[in-house]
Amino acid sequence: MNKEKFYITTPIYYPNDKLHIGHAFSTVMADAMTRYKRMRGYDTYFLTGTDEHGQKIERAARSLGKDPQQHVDDIAVSIKNLWRELGISNDDFIRTTEERHKKVVREIFMKIYAKGDIYKSSYEGWYCTPCETFFTERQLGEGKLCPDCQRPVELIKEESYFFRMSQYQERLLQHIQDNPDFIQPISRRNEMINFIKSGLEDLCISRTTFNWGIPVPTDEKHVIYVWFDALTNYLSAIGYNTENDALFKKYWPADIHLMAKDIVRFHAVIWPTILMAAELPLPKQIFGHGWLLLDSGKMSKSKGNVVDPLQLIKKYGVNSIRYFLLREIPVGADGYYSEEALVQRINNDLANDYGNLVSRTVAMVEKYFGGKVPAPEEKESKGELEIFAAETAQEAARFMDRLDFASALTSIWRLVSRANKFIDETMPWLLAKDEGKAAQLASVIYDLVETIRIITVMLTPVMPELPPAVWNQLGADPEENKLWTAVTWGGTKPGQVTVKEAALFPRIEIKEQDIPAGKEEMMSATNTTEMVPLSNEEISIEDFAKIDLRVAEVVACTKVEKADKLLQLEVKIGSEMRTIVSGIAKHYDPQELIGKKVIVVANLKPAKLRGIVSQGMILAASDEQILEVLHVQSPIVPGSRVK
Ligand code: ME8
Repeated sequence: MNKEKFYITTPIYYPNDKLHIGHAFSTVMADAMTRYKRMRGYDTYFLTGTDEHGQKIERAARSLGKDPQQHVDDIAVSIKNLWRELGISNDDFIRTTEERHKKVVREIFMKIYAKGDIYKSSYEGWYCTPCETFFTERQLGEGKLCPDCQRPVELIKEESYFFRMSQYQERLLQHIQDNPDFIQPISRRNEMINFIKSGLEDLCISRTTFNWGIPVPTDEKHVIYVWFDALTNYLSAIGYNTENDALFKKYWPADIHLMAKDIVRFHAVIWPTILMAAELPLPKQIFGHGWLLLDSGKMSKSKGNVVDPLQLIKKYGVNSIRYFLLREIPVGADGYYSEEALVQRINNDLANDYGNLVSRTVAMVEKYFGGKVPAPEEKESKGELEIFAAETAQEAARFMDRLDFASALTSIWRLVSRANKFIDETMPWLLAKDEGKAAQLASVIYDLVETIRIITVMLTPVMPELPPAVWNQLGADPEENKLWTAVTWGGTKPGQVTVKEAALFPRIEIKEQDIPAGKEEMMSATNTTEMVPLSNEEISIEDFAKIDLRVAEVVACTKVEKADKLLQLEVKIGSEMRTIVSGIAKHYDPQELIGKKVIVVANLKPAKLRGIVSQGMILAASDEQILEVLHVQSPIVPGSRVK
C-alpha cells in the first residue's frame, strides 16, 4: 500500500541556553501532529534543529569568551536533550553548521545568482541584530526602534548582495489567493496579504562586517544572510541536490512549516520567493500559532527558573506539560502561562476528571467483577456513551487535522465529563445490590472501560507516555490501540484483566502560602453546586413576554484579558451588531462559538464587565460539571424571536 506522505517542520532554534517553556510549544505541537498523522497511517517526516550562524550568535559566544563553534556545539546538545525529555519524536535534527547544510545553501545561492536574481550593490540602512532583520526607515518606530522587539536598531552601510524579491510580489500574491490554505490561520493570511501589497523591496542577503556564517562562494568576504541560510534547512535536511535525495523526492514540498506568528513573515514572503527563484515547489502550508505569554504578576517571585522546561518536566511530568501547552493556547491566539494555571489544569482536568474516571472504573471492575471486564448485554440500539464517543472521535479528528489541539482536547474532555456523569446517573453501587440488575451493571461497566480506552487512544498524540500505564490498568492490548482506527467502539474484550495501580495523576497539593492573593477562587474551581429547588413563584405570560429573547449569530469571540472566566462575543441580531460579555470561558474555546446561533436576552440593561459594555446576556444550561450554551441548529435567521 502506498501511504500518503506528511512532512512537518518546526523553526530551527537559535542556540540559546535559556530556551523557555514557550519555545517548546512549536515543537510539542509539531510532535503531537506527527504522532496523530502516524496514527492515521501517514508516512511522516518531522524535522527540527538549530540555527547556528549570524551576528547575534557570534556576539553571544564572544561575550562568553568562547569560540562560536564551541558555543553552538555545547548548546545544540542541551536542546537535543530537552526535546528528548519532552518526548519529541523528530526524524532528524539539522544544524546549520553541518557541511550537508552549508553545501545546499551555497548551491541555491549560486543557482539564483546565475539566473540574475541576485546582484551586488551597496546597502545603507537599519538592522536589528537580536531579530537578524533589515528594516526600511518607513518601518521603524519613533526613536529608531525595531518594530518587532522595540530594541534600538543599528545603522549599517556595506557592500551587499541583493535578492530580487520585488520581482516576485505579484506571483506570490497570486499564489496566496489561489491557495487559501497556504498561510493559516486566516488572521495571519490577511496580515501577510496586506504586508505584500504594501510593496516588496529587494532583500539584502549578505553581510561583510562579521564572518560567522556561510561565505558567498564567489566572494568570500561576504557571508550569506542568516535567514537565507536558515530557511534552506528545510531542503538541506532531506538531501536536496545530493546523490542521496530519496527523502527530498519523497517528502518535498513540505506539508506544514509550523512556527509562532513573529516569524511567519520570513516563511510566507522570503522563503516562497527564494523557492520561486530556485524553481522549486512551494510548501503546502505555513502555520503561525500564537505566543505563550507570561502572566508576569503571578510569576514574579521565581521568574526565570520556573519557566525552564526541564525543571517543569521534573516537577510535574512530561504528560502534564504537553497537555497544558496544547490545551492552553487556542488556535491562532495567545495563551497565558502561570504555574497556578498549570497546577489547576493538572488537578482539575488530569487528576479529577480523567484520572478519577480511570481509577473509579478500575475499582468497580475489581469490586463487582473480580478484576475481569464483564461482557455487555445484547442491546438493540447503541448506548449513549457509544454515540457520544463516536461523535467525539470525529470532532476531535476534525480539530486535530487543523492543528487545533485546544479544541480537540476540549471536545475529548466533554466525553470525560459525560462518562463521569454516567457513573453518577447509573449508580452502579445500587445496581450491584439488585441481582435482577446484573446484566445492566455489566453493561455500565463495560461501557465505561470502553469509553476510557477510546479517550486514551485519542490522547496518545498529546500525551504519548500516558497509554502504556492505562493499557496496563485496563488490561488492554497496546498493539491493538496504536492506530486511530482503534477509536471504533467495541475494542475492549470481555474477560480482560484489570490491574489497580497508583493514581495516574496525583493531585498537587497547594499550600496556602503558594497561592497569590486573589487566586483562591481559581483554586477552588472544582467546588460542586447544589441543585436549586424549582421555584414556587408564578409569573404571568405578560411578564414572560417582557423578556426579548432572540437568536443571535456569533461572529467573533475572544478571551477577555486577565479574566479567567470571561469571553467577549460579537453577535449579529438581525441587522444589529452587539457586544456581549459572558462568563463561559471555562467551558468554551472562543473558536468553538464562532458561527453558532445562540439565544440572547436582547433587552437586558447594559452592564460594564472588566471595562467592556455588555449589551445582553447569553443563555446557557449548567449542572455540576457541564455548561452548554443554548443554540439553534436550523437555518433560522439571526434576530428571530424565541418564544
Ligand atoms: O526565530 N510562545 O528562532 P528562535 C510560543 N532561528 N512560541 C514561542 C515562544 C513563545 N513565547 N517563544 C519562542 C528563530 N517560540 C529562528 C527560526 S526558522 C528557519 C528560523 C517558538 O529560537 C516560536 O515558534 O528565536 C519561534 O518562532 C521559535 O520558538 C523559534 O525561536
